[in-house]
Amino acid sequence: MKRIVIVGTQWGDEGKGKITDFLAQKADVVVRYQGGNNAGHTVVFHGKKHSLHLLPSGILNPNIQNVMANGMVINPKAFVEEIDKLQNFNLSISDRAHIVLPYHLELDKAYEHFRGNEKIGTTHKGIGPAYTDKSSRLGLRVSTFIDPEKFKARLFELMKVKNQELRKLGAPRFIAEEVYEEYLKYASVMAPYVKDTSVLLNQAIDDNKKILFEGAQGVLLCLDHGTYPYVTSSSPTAASVPLNTGIAPWLIDGAIGVTKAYTTRVGSGPMPSEILGDLANQIREIGNEYGTTTGRPRRIGWLDTVVLRHTKRISGLSYLAVTLLDVLSGIDELKIAVSYEFNGKTITDIPAEMSDFEACKPNYITMPGWKEDITQVKSFEALPVQAQNYLNQLCELVGVPLAIFSVGPDRSQTIQVKPIF
Ligand code: IMP
Repeated sequence: MKRIVIVGTQWGDEGKGKITDFLAQKADVVVRYQGGNNAGHTVVFHGKKHSLHLLPSGILNPNIQNVMANGMVINPKAFVEEIDKLQNFNLSISDRAHIVLPYHLELDKAYEHFRGNEKIGTTHKGIGPAYTDKSSRLGLRVSTFIDPEKFKARLFELMKVKNQELRKLGAPRFIAEEVYEEYLKYASVMAPYVKDTSVLLNQAIDDNKKILFEGAQGVLLCLDHGTYPYVTSSSPTAASVPLNTGIAPWLIDGAIGVTKAYTTRVGSGPMPSEILGDLANQIREIGNEYGTTTGRPRRIGWLDTVVLRHTKRISGLSYLAVTLLDVLSGIDELKIAVSYEFNGKTITDIPAEMSDFEACKPNYITMPGWKEDITQVKSFEALPVQAQNYLNQLCELVGVPLAIFSVGPDRSQTIQVKPIF
């Protein structure tokens, strides 16, 4: 495979950054195709932790061409803060991506406030309002943003509407001149990286380059195929790559589904295999299950293969990459959800209506756990037999072969069992 999509198979935070960083060692190009700085990708390299929010996970390697594609929404202030910490990188930003402005963050907070008990638990990064503006044709494209005159004219127009909306919601308003002065500085930092990245990517394909498309979030947070309305405002599926990057659908060779060895979720919404109490706390502490972007504790659950089969169907997974297997060491008995009981029936697909999904009770199979520390394991065969069985069972239930598993945060703790590139 030459052009591969990295897909989060659950509710995000599966370790996509780490798997992208690992595969990127053999890639020529890494592309972020949706979302914004709501994402948090942690890459640990030579014992040093790097938290990436907007930048593609290949950014630490100067030989890789990194692309922020047209499907993204980019907060310029966050962008400048992120690249300020880095040196010696290779980056291009799509002239058709959209800009997140300060009023988007205020609108995000205000909508959440009005949702009350129904709140989504967004990251408050303005992602939903920025995508809403893009769809309502009230957005600001990167190409306009980096032209000082056009940016000024467009911003002043947009802010007439946006300030009215903020006023009605009782949210703080902004002075257009002040926003302009501040954001003009960010635009000048961004400008040298901006180009038509669809042209760049199609050229890279013609040149037979190896390309990784890196999704943020997970398929269950997809606007169309996720647990709506408890979703993000873009589509982290393999299907959204062509639209969000400007390449033809048939140029994608396959998708790697990144799957935690258990399940986590931040924010509200159904999660049938959720575990509460001591065991959840134990997994949360060992797995450091706190949001990279917001620091919120993540909800913990058993592995749910109904969810994984849903993702496989939507995104057409070629292989699985199972992460955080080491976190399950020391648990006597492991459960895997295989189907749900709903309205007296056994079902194997996720209902569309969230109150129905909430009412689903998982049917589990149980498997013996393992006691050994597996963090130094270097091959599948070196794993305790119970861990091997767990991985084999998982892959069989989902119907997708294993290509990678990881037993710790460092690049050296990622083990490839099948060639991919
Ligand atoms: P938003 O993307 O900030 O609008 O948040 C919508 C939902 O997606 C919330 O439940 C967030 O917690 C969740 N979400 C957004 N980005 C991520 C991520 O990178 N990892 C996990 N959850 C995320």
